[in-house]
Amino acid sequence: MAIRTVLTERFGLTWPIVLAPMAFVSGGALARAVTAAGGLGFVGGGYGDRDWLARELAAAGNGPVGVGFITWSLARNPDLLALALDHAPRAVFLSFGDVRPFAARVKRQGVPLIAQVQSVEMAKAAAGEGADFIVAQGTEAGGHGAARATLPLVPAVVDAVGRVPVLAAGGIADGRGLAAALMLGAVGVVCGTAFYVAEESLAAPAAKAAAVEAGGGETGRSSVYDTVRGFDWPAPFDIRLVENPFISRWKRDGEGLGRNLLTERARYDRALVESDLSVAAVIVGEAVDLVRAVEPAADILARMGQGAEVLLSGAGALVGQAPGRAT
Ligand SMILES: Cc1cc2nc3c(=O)[nH]c(=O)nc-3n(C[C@H](O)[C@H](O)[C@H](O)COP(=O)(O)O)c2cc1C
Repeated sequence: MAIRTVLTERFGLTWPIVLAPMAFVSGGALARAVTAAGGLGFVGGGYGDRDWLARELAAAGNGPVGVGFITWSLARNPDLLALALDHAPRAVFLSFGDVRPFAARVKRQGVPLIAQVQSVEMAKAAAGEGADFIVAQGTEAGGHGAARATLPLVPAVVDAVGRVPVLAAGGIADGRGLAAALMLGAVGVVCGTAFYVAEESLAAPAAKAAAVEAGGGETGRSSVYDTVRGFDWPAPFDIRLVENPFISRWKRDGEGLGRNLLTERARYDRALVESDLSVAAVIVGEAVDLVRAVEPAADILARMGQGAEVLLSGAGALVGQAPGRAT
């Protein structure tokens, strides 16, 4: 079984499913597992820890995966791009900012460039800079993002960027979501929340267990965690995660958080060590409703791919009753 699209042809995949380059979560083992199971795995270069990136690229087997960067952070540590390119990545995935300073370098080395965007305007800019694939990310996504919803954003981006193939991200975690994204004109999907709970993910075991229990309605967007971690995210980006008492309190009182920053940062650091999830974050998106077990990445991928294939072949259940997990 397989689904063929421009994405699967370009990278030799079985399924048009990409592991999002999640900072602190998508390490080498998870990226490698997704690639080995027929998807495209990415290591999350995150906020620029060189030793971490070198270690995780080695853990991925130095080759069969891509590398993702948060663009505004990469601009502060541009040498990391050279480290990534030295490992002959399958692709470089740039999100949350202007790809211009890096696009030529990536393309000169013959490495495909994937740009994740949150609006039609950003999509047009990335297409103009030569992105090989554009990821249209909706606000349902776990982690950082912006305001547009996946369902209308994906076809709008498809229409806006002409021949550049588009991937959908945000709220996709099963075969139904994958099939729907392909129907919207995407050639594949980028999934974070679905793989957060994979056995191979670097998320803390307690956070994975909490994600399995959480519902999409418990997630929300804010900037509290960025403030407390000292990450200087530019507008319009904020972060979707499961709202806990810490978030709920400070979301309504940004000034108070500013006044108490040192104490709250110490509290947050302690909570990370102790896996205290009343303070530490479970970073997942609305699709967490569909995430119900900690399991190997290969199982998550196969169920999603096979589920979509059944639906796309017309052999699925009655419209509106397509099963999410039963394939
Ligand atoms: C825990 C977590 C961390 C993330 N970190 C990054 C990141 O470092 N860089 C990035 O480009 N996207 C990051 N994202 C966003 C993903 O690229 C992707 O857009 C998103 O996960 C798709 O939506 P979904 O969570 O509903 O699958 C992160 C997402 C999650 C859930």
